[in-house]
Amino acid sequence: MTETSKPAPADGLLNEVNDAFSGLTLALSKGRILEETMPLLRAAGVDLLEDPEASRKLIFPTSNPNVRVLILRASDVPTYVEHGAADFGVAGKDVLLEHGAEGLYEPLDLEIARCKLMTAGVTGQPPAKARRRVATKFVNVARRYYAEQGIQAEVIKLYGAMELAPLMNLADEIVDIVDTGNTLRANGMEPRELIAHISTRLVVNKAAMTMKHDRIKPLLARLESAVKKRQTQPIE
Ligand code: ATP
Ligand code: PRP
Repeated sequence: MTETSKPAPADGLLNEVNDAFSGLTLALSKGRILEETMPLLRAAGVDLLEDPEASRKLIFPTSNPNVRVLILRASDVPTYVEHGAADFGVAGKDVLLEHGAEGLYEPLDLEIARCKLMTAGVTGQPPAKARRRVATKFVNVARRYYAEQGIQAEVIKLYGAMELAPLMNLADEIVDIVDTGNTLRANGMEPRELIAHISTRLVVNKAAMTMKHDRIKPLLARLESAVKKRQTQPIE
């Protein structure tokens, strides 16, 4: 590699990101989680200064100089928090069940993005009697669930559009999120067994909970009261 083709040193950005910051790092994901968590965070005194939905950036300052936000894929949030790359984060219980939450505390149910994790199959078609082919992005949850039920299952990993799999005979059933049931109905499918009720949780890195307790505790308390207040008077 010639001198001129070397990549630019990243030190400037790395220093900017890490050296000057001794506060709390919060991991969020775009879409539903961001949309539904922001009113609670705002009520707890943390507002984003820029809209992540309209930006390519992944790290965002907030109105609280001691809190910055990382924008990740929903399924990466527990990984960042478990390894301490973020101090705390917001993730669906579905994502936490799939990840396995050993390295995390889960101190607060934000009671948003409520839905169910269910099995579903083609409407009117009885469940396969022999080894069932199950398509899902929740492979760990599905393996555990079918084993607990004593049902032999071949679990097939998909990354989305699970509803298509039984229609195209890739699978006999799926494990997926169900809210209104519209997506299932639109694809000729019906919900079957409930695996878990789902809502969005605040998760905290175990070491950070101890080492940064003085900063995390008051923020947790403000979020908790924002959740309670929301039950009686919805916040903007
Ligand atoms: P990715 O696109 O990175 O795989 P995702 O599609 O799971 O992430 P979202 O669709 O924004 O991300 O969902 C975020 C969380 O919201 C889910 O983990 C789940 O807890 C909840 N959720 C998903 N679908 C619904 C729904 N239809 N109604 C209510 N809550 C939902
Ligand atoms: C989620 C989930 C289901 C759908 C269920 O998808 O994956 O497909 O919601 O909701 P319903 O029962 O109200 O139809 P989402 O709309 O979030 O899109 P995604 O597949 O991109 O996650």
